[in-house]
Amino acid sequence: MNNTLIVTGCAGFIGGTFTFKALSMGYKVIGVDSFINSNPSTVNKIAQKFPEKFIFIEEDLSKSTNQLEKHIKEIEIDGVIHFAGLKAVGESEHKPLKYWENNLISSTNLLRLMEAQKIKKFIFSSSATVYGDSTVQPILESNNIQSTSAYGSTKIAIEQLLKDCARAGLVDVISLRYFNPVGAHQEMIIHEDPYDMPNNLMPRIIRVALNLDKKLHIFGDDYDTRDGTGERDYIHIDDLVEGHFKAIEYVKNLKGFEAFNLGTGQSVTVKEIITCFEEVNGIPISHEYADRRSGDVAKCFADPSKASDLLGWSTQKSLEDMCLDSWRAVKKI
Ligand code: NAD
Ligand code: WQD
Repeated sequence: MNNTLIVTGCAGFIGGTFTFKALSMGYKVIGVDSFINSNPSTVNKIAQKFPEKFIFIEEDLSKSTNQLEKHIKEIEIDGVIHFAGLKAVGESEHKPLKYWENNLISSTNLLRLMEAQKIKKFIFSSSATVYGDSTVQPILESNNIQSTSAYGSTKIAIEQLLKDCARAGLVDVISLRYFNPVGAHQEMIIHEDPYDMPNNLMPRIIRVALNLDKKLHIFGDDYDTRDGTGERDYIHIDDLVEGHFKAIEYVKNLKGFEAFNLGTGQSVTVKEIITCFEEVNGIPISHEYADRRSGDVAKCFADPSKASDLLGWSTQKSLEDMCLDSWRAVKKI
């Protein structure tokens, strides 16, 4: 074991946070990103802090893995953590080919490289979106899989591809199905960008706190939920990232494919998260009700017991931590 990982999407919110933590823990990281949804600032900060253990390669994995291949020829790689992907649900509905090409082809290209280089261990960033509009809540990994967007279809297809490759003995795979990641790690170097017109709730709340937007629109107040607004399973990025380190340990002895939910198991409504944000940060978040957002589901929260039983993983951080850290990272306080 050489403790060297390939991390794709290392310039993004989750891949960047993972890379920072992995390097802090003593891993060596070969990071790859095309900057299709990020910029070099995160990798520059990581490279400055860990000049000896971090190699960065700018490459669009859906086009080629040549640059990556050149760098890893002489290095023993323990595994690939595949965060790279486009993730905007709404955009994927208008530009399905962009999503299929980017997400699926980068995954097949990576798998080809892994086969050629005899790299066996693969951790994949999947999503709760693979469960679609589930009537059963909380959601177990054995739940039905259904697509509600082109983005979701790519995650389902990549999981199927990985199952086929695992069955053929090419790779051993853990697919981590993230619920709603928010917050920022302690060093606050990497966080979601509220300036780049985000779709997700927390960066939209941050935009109101920063006075970039006058009001938050709450998409629907007539759902069959505790208070009529959507219920989700928000998870602190530190807990989410920790799930990857547990998965790296588990995949060492795994033969085949396993999927795990990474969520807290607690549902939180839009109104509840706004109230929590206002209380812990002392900042009012003006809001008004708007129509339901197309494609949204009423409830989506995890049953995380499989990850607890098999990975020995459970979440530690509270909703208060998520609201505090999301704001502190942007304000640098
Ligand atoms: P992000 O957009 O911040 O990071 C993804 C990174 O991948 C970006 O830096 C982007 O430039 C890079 N990338 C995309 N396509 C690439 C390609 N073809 N070649 C090389 N680099 C490429 O997103 P994130 O929030 O950090 O998400 C990471 C992963 O987790 C994604 O696969 C996403 O689908 C998944 N996920 C995210 C969430 C969430 O709410 N953030 C929830 C569930 C799953
Ligand atoms: C959460 C709640 C909205 C914005 C998406 C993807 C999913 C996964 C995580 C990648 C919902 C409400 C939001 C706003 C609002 N990503 N909301 N006003 O929809 O659960 O999941 O991100 O895999 O695939 O679909 O997250 O943060 O967009 O919304 O009222 O301005 O906040 O309606 O109830 P979602 P979200």
